[in-house]
Amino acid sequence: MFVQRQLAESLIPTLPGAFYVDDAIFEAEQRAIFSSLWVCTARTSDLAAPGSFQTFDVGGESVIVDRDQDGGLHAFLNVCRHRGSRICTEAAGHIRRTFQCPYHAWSYTLEGRLAGAPNMTSMPDLDPAEFGLIRVWLREWLGYAWICLAPQPPSFDETVQRQVAERFGDAETINRYTLDRLALGRRIEYDVKANWKLIVENFMECYHCSTLHPELVTVLPEFKHGYPTQHRVGYGAAFGDGINGFTFDGREGFVRLVGLSEEQDRRYYGMTVKPQVVINLAPDHAIIHRIFPVAVDRTIVRCDWLFAPEVVASGDDVGPSVELFHRVNQQDFNAVQACQPAMSSRAYAKGGVFVPAEHHIADFNRWLREQLD
Ligand code: FES
Ligand SMILES: [Fe+2]
Repeated sequence: MFVQRQLAESLIPTLPGAFYVDDAIFEAEQRAIFSSLWVCTARTSDLAAPGSFQTFDVGGESVIVDRDQDGGLHAFLNVCRHRGSRICTEAAGHIRRTFQCPYHAWSYTLEGRLAGAPNMTSMPDLDPAEFGLIRVWLREWLGYAWICLAPQPPSFDETVQRQVAERFGDAETINRYTLDRLALGRRIEYDVKANWKLIVENFMECYHCSTLHPELVTVLPEFKHGYPTQHRVGYGAAFGDGINGFTFDGREGFVRLVGLSEEQDRRYYGMTVKPQVVINLAPDHAIIHRIFPVAVDRTIVRCDWLFAPEVVASGDDVGPSVELFHRVNQQDFNAVQACQPAMSSRAYAKGGVFVPAEHHIADFNRWLREQLD
């Protein structure tokens, strides 16, 4: 009797396996989450030059994010208003003045206006204002372009910024890291053969840290106990004695980011921002994961290592810093890839269980079900 009650109280069910393999659920998530909420796309410094653009697959749509000649950022559906051709077929590029559709050569300005069409004089009643590219909402924050495909987006403040403020206990702490002015030191793209939620759930817990992440628990010894930092408001995990930096072997990294407080030094702060971002903060750099679901069993993760601009400009070797979380990423993604095939097993039809160190993941699952409802 006692054992049963112990089990009931200490274990919380996960989502059933179908949530990770069912195409219909994946489609529902694309609609209810990725087409409805704010999604983090381009690093804005990748679009520094006027005319530069990137394309992203979000919520079943292809989206162009570009920089106009006046420095403004825009996002549009990558669909020609004539007969629907994809306009940009590359993941990134640069144009001088207009996007030209490869099919019949309608062209559009960087602001999305219809600029011209062959034989336009034969259509004197064609109103260019009516045939611009379909706009997508865009907000810049932390040095990224966040987009929302919904006709009316939810409040960015309430749904995105609030998550970060709640993690730190205030809205200001994140600003001290000046993520919008940090420079890209390294980017690695991971093609993970697993459902996006397995990746998010894995990031949320540290129960696996001592098994999977020998380097990380050497740098952050308290992670051996399996409790992540993100379930405690304002808390950062302390570097171990003898650890000089957030590097794969604890060697010294770079000087502390200007503006950090004494208490943010020698600490690591991690958090997930639903639905698809992970923020990792070290005293001298930040690591940002953007998670892009491709299929029910495949996810692209783009991971940026951001450093003070002076560090990147100096050409100093960021390798030892990058190597720590690159290993963590590989270790994590191998683990979730080992889970993915089992999600369709009858052994997992009802799902598994969260132990106490993972209980907070149930909040994410509850949030997910609410979105789908
Ligand atoms: S489909 Fe684009 S110009 Fe015809
Ligand atoms: Fe991990």
